[in-house]
Amino acid sequence: MSPISLTRYLIEEQQAGRICADLRLLIEVVARACKTISIAVGKGDLGGVLGDAGTPGAASINIQGEAQKKLDVLSNEILLETNAWGGHLAACASEEMDHSQPIPDRYPKGNYLLVFDPLDGSSNIDVNVTVGTIFSVLRCPEGVSAPGDEHFLQPGTAQVAAGYAAYGSSTMLVLTVGHGTHAFTLDREVGSFILTRRDIRIPEETKEFAANASNQRHWEAPMQRYVAEMLAGKQGPRGKDFNMRWVASMVADVHRIMTRGGIFTYPLDAKNTAQGGKLRLLYEANPMALLVEQAGGAASTGRMRMLDVQPEKLHQRVPVFLGSKHEVEYAVALHRAHDAGG
Ligand code: AHG
Ligand code: MN
Ligand code: MN
Repeated sequence: MSPISLTRYLIEEQQAGRICADLRLLIEVVARACKTISIAVGKGDLGGVLGDAGTPGAASINIQGEAQKKLDVLSNEILLETNAWGGHLAACASEEMDHSQPIPDRYPKGNYLLVFDPLDGSSNIDVNVTVGTIFSVLRCPEGVSAPGDEHFLQPGTAQVAAGYAAYGSSTMLVLTVGHGTHAFTLDREVGSFILTRRDIRIPEETKEFAANASNQRHWEAPMQRYVAEMLAGKQGPRGKDFNMRWVASMVADVHRIMTRGGIFTYPLDAKNTAQGGKLRLLYEANPMALLVEQAGGAASTGRMRMLDVQPEKLHQRVPVFLGSKHEVEYAVALHRAHDAGG
């Protein structure tokens, strides 16, 4: 059978009545932007794209208070520029921008909102380790002609599409439009994404977890117990040995889970309690949660289903537990027991 390109997959989804033409075009355009980012990432040192943005001694800082890398800024510009003129968007919001940005008046406007983490895993850019782009598509509320930040504050269940591109040894796009999670690999010679894994299923059981263990002393009690039980291995209450992995690019860690299962955690800890967590709800946790649920996994804050969280701020942060269903349920049960005084 001839390979199925992203274009063909999306046309067939449209023919099946699962997406409209505008959403199809929007996803095509986001995929095009990801190809451009992939080329910039792939050039590395030769492209002059490594290192911090800003001037020496005065790195530019984003709204999160984090120093921006050149590739953070470049990827943000590529996504904004590529998506500005297509006519399917009303506004964009990004990790790298203080506020959402309406589509400029000189371009036609559409009915969707796009929110993204242009370059996830910034700490890995300079060391040639996988980084990625994460995106989420929402509907612009009816009757809103000039969308602002407040119109992005929709729970994850309202997402009409979500995905990520992983810029690794190959470039992959992992996508859901609400009917399963599918992976496409970039054919660099042809320049198109080819469907390589239809209907990803995350195994319900796992023996692998992802956590930044250097934060262990700051974790809340249920996370302390959860990891201690896993580290106790066969002799402990879980009765099996666990393996640990931490890439520090959420995209790469989630992609591993899409491939062989596992649980990804970024819990509440003493350093991030005031902010509500480390990872951002709208452009990290929610799109990943939809992708994981559509692949048969689960995603939670530890205390509630991620997709049900009602956002209050554009850059809101949340604790994250996602991946293999039974493992996420176990971590949630420990939180419940702890909160109940158990
Ligand atoms: P970003 O580069 O977009 O700011 O995101 C980084 C995130 C996420 O990708 C990763 O899982 C986590 O931060 C890594 O955190 P630590 O540096 O604390 O390990
Ligand atoms: Mn990120
Ligand atoms: Mn980022």
